[in-house]
Amino acid sequence: MTDSDMRQQDMACLFVIFGGTGDLTHRKLLPALYRLEKNGLLPEQFAIVTVGRRDKREAEYRQDAEQSVSRAINKNGSHPVDRQILDILLSRIYYTQIDFDADENCYQPLIEKLEILDKQYDTGGNRLYFLAVAPDYFGVLSNRLQKCGLLDNARGWQRLMIEKPFGSNLPTARELNSIITKSLPESHIFRIDHYLGKEMIQNILALRFGNSLFEPLWNHHYIDNIQITSYETLGVESRGGYYEHSGIRRDMLQNHLLQMLSLIAMEPPVDLDQESIRDEKVKVLRSLRAIDEQSSTRTIVRGQYGPGQVNGTAVKGYREEERVSPESETDTFIALKAHVDNFRWAGVPFYIRAGKRMDHQSTRIVIEFKKLPGIEFFSDFKNQNPNLLVVEIQPNEGLFFQINAKRPGNTFAMERINLNFSQSAQVQSNSPEAYERLILEAMRDNQSLFTRWDELECSWQFVDSIENILSARPVDFPNYAAGSTGPEAAKRLTKADGREWWEL
Ligand code: BG6
Repeated sequence: MTDSDMRQQDMACLFVIFGGTGDLTHRKLLPALYRLEKNGLLPEQFAIVTVGRRDKREAEYRQDAEQSVSRAINKNGSHPVDRQILDILLSRIYYTQIDFDADENCYQPLIEKLEILDKQYDTGGNRLYFLAVAPDYFGVLSNRLQKCGLLDNARGWQRLMIEKPFGSNLPTARELNSIITKSLPESHIFRIDHYLGKEMIQNILALRFGNSLFEPLWNHHYIDNIQITSYETLGVESRGGYYEHSGIRRDMLQNHLLQMLSLIAMEPPVDLDQESIRDEKVKVLRSLRAIDEQSSTRTIVRGQYGPGQVNGTAVKGYREEERVSPESETDTFIALKAHVDNFRWAGVPFYIRAGKRMDHQSTRIVIEFKKLPGIEFFSDFKNQNPNLLVVEIQPNEGLFFQINAKRPGNTFAMERINLNFSQSAQVQSNSPEAYERLILEAMRDNQSLFTRWDELECSWQFVDSIENILSARPVDFPNYAAGSTGPEAAKRLTKADGREWWEL
């Protein structure tokens, strides 16, 4: 048996999706499974069991799946779906209806179906459960699964993938964690932050630890500041009900933005083992300085979008969105200055900002190096930028490094040069590629792309401290128009320190 055969056999499983009729399953998970099938990455001994509350026949479910996969794959009309691959995938998809809240007896049809399919697909009893349901059901479902004996690792491996948000603050996250860890050990829990599945986020480790050029300079001696931006043109879409409870701090800051920060700021791990990487990330999160209440009016800016125009189309303000209160004080924008209090980063500000309904979409990290004295003193060098290293995460994937050089010609004039590496054209928003990778890595039992409990604990601690400060502060919402560059006060955040946000 070859290594790859062994690997395929280790990955053999039933992939059981709770929330089978939901948006996440149809927009992201099924298309991701199609791509895995197309790339030959799914083991032969593999089937997908979707579980939902709606009463549907299997044939009907497969029809829905066919439509959603075709739509997602052929978004712009130029990538028709591969019929043969789609048919193979559809033939491996099953559907069962269950009322998640009902008692364990109601899970009996599911249990029977799983046992039949285990045999039919020779999975050895391995199961990967994915909770693609509203957060209120995370605890309920893990509890039911445990009571039904479905999480018993004595027979094959049982792993649980859980979407965000994991809790809504530290106490609720702890409560949820205690329910889940009663059912499964940490090593079988895969908490999702889909940003960790993005290509360029993974590239941060390669960039930092694979290049002698950067690592020696990666500290407060040479780096002036770091800027992390995640701007979307999208609003809250149909998720007003969820967003009213989460706001941008819980929706983006607690997870995606702090994950990016921890990868940028972490120490080199002793090896690339999942625990070694996560150990280093957690140290960064533990070193985050709690936001000081007195200076917080200068270091945190909140915002909420009003009506406006995005790409020439008139759009509603947040307070007019479906299932949003007309007096809502929920943030759709945040900018803040953070500090990582350790030896490497002493005194280096991390400016972080995220917003919905912005004038453009961009997720990027800018590392601004300190200026050399020449830039300040030599008259011909004046007005040059400091060196900037930019990690473009989306919509384009790439890296660029901005340096200063002499403009060709007989005069000694300086110009900025971009050493540019562009990896791809437009990445699809919230790309299924991320889910593709996450599902695959969970099957391979690689937890490095998933959030460990102590990472979550630290990030909630930080976000809760902001929450406490902001909840007492009056707001003047809406304070930016949809399709604009965000609240004016956000610009002052960097200006107050004699710096600028880099809008590159
Ligand atoms: C999700 C948030 O986690 O990330 C959404 O719930 C947000 O509100 C999305 O739009 C952004 O992801 P991406 O991959 O489009 O940057």
